[in-house]
Amino acid sequence: SDNINDIIDHVLYSQEDIQEMCKRLGKQLTEDYAGKDPLVVGVLKGAVFFMTDLVRQMDVKMQNDFMDVSSYGDGFESSGKVRLDIDVQADVKDRDVLLVEDIVDTGHTLKFMKDLLTERGAKSVKCCALLNKTERREDDVVVDYYGAKVANEFVVGYGLDYLNEYRNIPFIGVLKPEVIQANLNR
Ligand code: PRP
Ligand code: MN
Ligand code: MG
Repeated sequence: SDNINDIIDHVLYSQEDIQEMCKRLGKQLTEDYAGKDPLVVGVLKGAVFFMTDLVRQMDVKMQNDFMDVSSYGDGFESSGKVRLDIDVQADVKDRDVLLVEDIVDTGHTLKFMKDLLTERGAKSVKCCALLNKTERREDDVVVDYYGAKVANEFVVGYGLDYLNEYRNIPFIGVLKPEVIQANLNR
């Protein structure tokens, strides 16, 4: 269906909730990255929405870059395999890199990026994720900053997708189980 109400079970975080998280995180990051001239890297595609709100709450000299790393699976489960699709343009050697993610789930994607950028000689590699799904963690990787912990439910909106859709929903909602079921039956 084309209607949000037909696919969302309930709102988990409203637009106001999300803006509060961005403000709190932005304030903390402003303190922690003062004078560090960080390279703030958004991870395509999910983090684009959070990235733009977060960095506008950071009163810090910085550069912005993007990379596309996908953990590939069937849309429900990540397989543990991670692929670098688009690299950062910047040289990360001796840089303080802050990775921005919409969600850390198994941790495979974040572990891959932290290892890669560390190998290239980054001075530090930290991550700020909007959501932290700790229950699902398979890799022992630190999420240095996050907006909220979430339970193991399928969340969409504000960058989070289901089969590459619903990213543009302005809040974060829990997907109705029947939406997933309908796809399984197709
Ligand atoms: C999602 C999400 C994170 C990653 C988290 O991205 O945006 O980047 O998965 O999963 P993990 O912790 O299990 O690795 P995805 O690879 O689906 O690409 P997308 O951002 O383009 O949706
Ligand atoms: Mn992603
Ligand atoms: Mg995805």
